[in-house]
Amino acid sequence: MNHPSDALAHFELWRSTHQADVERALSTWVTADAPAGLGEAMRYAVLDGGKRLRPLLVLGTSEAVGGGRESALRAACAVELIHAYSLVHDDMPCMDNDVLRRGKPTVHVQFGEAQALLVGDALQALAFELLVPESGVEPQLGSTLCRLLARASGGQGMAGGQAVDLASIGLALDQTALEHMHRLKTGALLQASVMMGAACGAPDENATAELQRFGAALGLAFQVVDDVLDVTADAATLGKTAGKDAAADKPTFVSLMGLESAQAYADRLLGQAHLALQATGLPRVSPLHALTDWVGRRTH
Ligand code: IPE
Ligand code: IPE
Ligand code: MG
Ligand code: MG
Ligand code: MG
Repeated sequence: MNHPSDALAHFELWRSTHQADVERALSTWVTADAPAGLGEAMRYAVLDGGKRLRPLLVLGTSEAVGGGRESALRAACAVELIHAYSLVHDDMPCMDNDVLRRGKPTVHVQFGEAQALLVGDALQALAFELLVPESGVEPQLGSTLCRLLARASGGQGMAGGQAVDLASIGLALDQTALEHMHRLKTGALLQASVMMGAACGAPDENATAELQRFGAALGLAFQVVDDVLDVTADAATLGKTAGKDAAADKPTFVSLMGLESAQAYADRLLGQAHLALQATGLPRVSPLHALTDWVGRRTH
């Protein structure tokens, strides 16, 4: 595979195959049988939408370290369930008050606020249920996966970052504070996706440390790009409301440094992600390099 367009076609095939696997697994595991319409609302929140970047990172990293497929798929879906729950709550009136998500009315608009709250609760529980020993995941690995996912989702991760986000409305955060918020609210789960994939195999110490760096750089870059797209893209492309951050007076990388510098900063971080990936010395990292490029050129 010498030509860049061959590499791109190869990646697109890798991406669509893995996205389809994730979609099928999610549809199996998020059942409609939770009572009083909760199951239906959970499926609405999870299925038929989303780029599935976090699952792709788990699966790509697991492949790079020779991890087992079944455990990696469970880990991939577990992260996506936490992510989907975070979006449902993020959109609620008490948080970002958004009406559009993944091209559809948000869960609270469709099913009511109380049901949206419960969808988040139930998806979070289900994420961990996918990883218990009875699921078939080897107990030691399941415990590691649960620890990584719990830390990245909780007070020192996504939930903590969301708290900072809401406490920062109307404030002009400096770069250090803004990076801290972004690393928690978005970066932590993306970095955990990489480390959960890594846990499915047995990378050496150097590869593990470089994968940590890769996940951190990619995770931060991802939220910087999200801030940029909020300004540059329209709702039809984004599948969510555009221009929300400025309207809600949220500090972002665009408000901090301007559009062009924010874009350049994202590119620099993506460059760091590529370098860390190279430094792992792992042989099968092309899908992860391609995912990194994909984050840079994404339009939604
Ligand atoms: C959106 O995440 C929320 C952030 C953490 C920035 P994604 O852009 O990955 O959303 P989906 O999953 O593709 O809808
Ligand atoms: C969301 O950040 C981060 C989450 C933990 C969900 P944003 O509030 O910027 O995400 P969008 O733009 O609504 O997707
Ligand atoms: Mg938000
Ligand atoms: Mg939001
Ligand atoms: Mg945003």
